[in-house]
Amino acid sequence: MQGIERYMSICIHRGNADGIKAVAELLISGEVVALPTETVYGLAANALDEESVRRIFEIKMRPLIDPLIVHFYDLNQLEKIAFIPPEAITLAEHFWPGALTIVLNKRPIVPDLVTASRETVAVRMPAKPEMREVLNRCGLYLAAPSANPFGYVSPTSAQHVVDSLGDRLDAVLDGGPCEFGLESTIINLSHPESPSILRKGPIAAESLEEVLGREVAQESSVLDSEMRKSGLIAPGTLSKHYSPRTQIQLQPNGFNALRDKLDCEAIVLFQRPTEIPHQNKQFYWLSETGNLAEAGKNLFKLLRNLDKKGLQKVSIEMAPAGGLGDTINDRLIRAAAKS
Ligand code: TXA
Ligand code: MG
Repeated sequence: MQGIERYMSICIHRGNADGIKAVAELLISGEVVALPTETVYGLAANALDEESVRRIFEIKMRPLIDPLIVHFYDLNQLEKIAFIPPEAITLAEHFWPGALTIVLNKRPIVPDLVTASRETVAVRMPAKPEMREVLNRCGLYLAAPSANPFGYVSPTSAQHVVDSLGDRLDAVLDGGPCEFGLESTIINLSHPESPSILRKGPIAAESLEEVLGREVAQESSVLDSEMRKSGLIAPGTLSKHYSPRTQIQLQPNGFNALRDKLDCEAIVLFQRPTEIPHQNKQFYWLSETGNLAEAGKNLFKLLRNLDKKGLQKVSIEMAPAGGLGDTINDRLIRAAAKS
């Protein structure tokens, strides 16, 4: 059929009307498909259908204690799945559709499998037009974690999905590269009087504080603490959540690649250098001009490319601190964590 490419067992649907119609039908019939969002690609299925949701966990090889984000099209749909405090409306009006996930107290209709039996559900109205079209067309709530095998780097293009899940998945909708390339910011509003950030993302804590008009605390992610408690992952290893196979040594922002002697095969700089140092190493950079948004967008692609090259040791310069730089550094620290 025109517009569809088959690779291994997976169909790559173009992000046009035909592709959107095809994946919407697959979702309605209970299938799991990978979809583009402005953050990263998600592995989506009907959130209210337990069997479909179970397939997400199987395909991703994800432990059942790690809950999923539920995506939806229109704010009117939210009430059916969650209790909505006024603070959530305030954030929704400013940041949705967009890269913000809000944790709210859930309604009974949401299957326990989605929330890992928690009393809360994470919800997001994504902005990417192709994703919105799919949500509108299928009319479903879509549970979707990032479309990578559990513990690996999130995908920021359809090709990344094919590379790591192509033999386990039937379909991906190709919406081109993700605009942010970093997973959404997660804010916990289950106790709206004391909001907290569970995961840093494209939307900075300061922006949330400004809009909410109150302080937003920083918590370690629910997954981190749950996994440790359950003994599934030993303390300290969870940080490996985003890890590529290549061993990463982090360097402070502004380190001197000309002078510092590093034991590695490649160096990733934050910004393109004015001259490539004469060293027997490969050089890469996250951004041409030192632009944080560009660096964020490139980060996961670069980590995946380094893995493909089979490099053993790579040094990566951290982003300058503050705003999106903190989010990039959060992902770098996780990628560099040793098991
Ligand atoms: O940008 C994103 O958020 C992407 C796109 C596809 O939407 N999704 C994503 O999903 O990154 P995932 O599953 O890879 O990460 C979601 C995180 C997990 O760490 C999970 O533990 C946390 O959200 N989470 C989900 N439900 C939660 C809940 N009820 N309470 C606290 N944390 C929750
Ligand atoms: Mg993920």
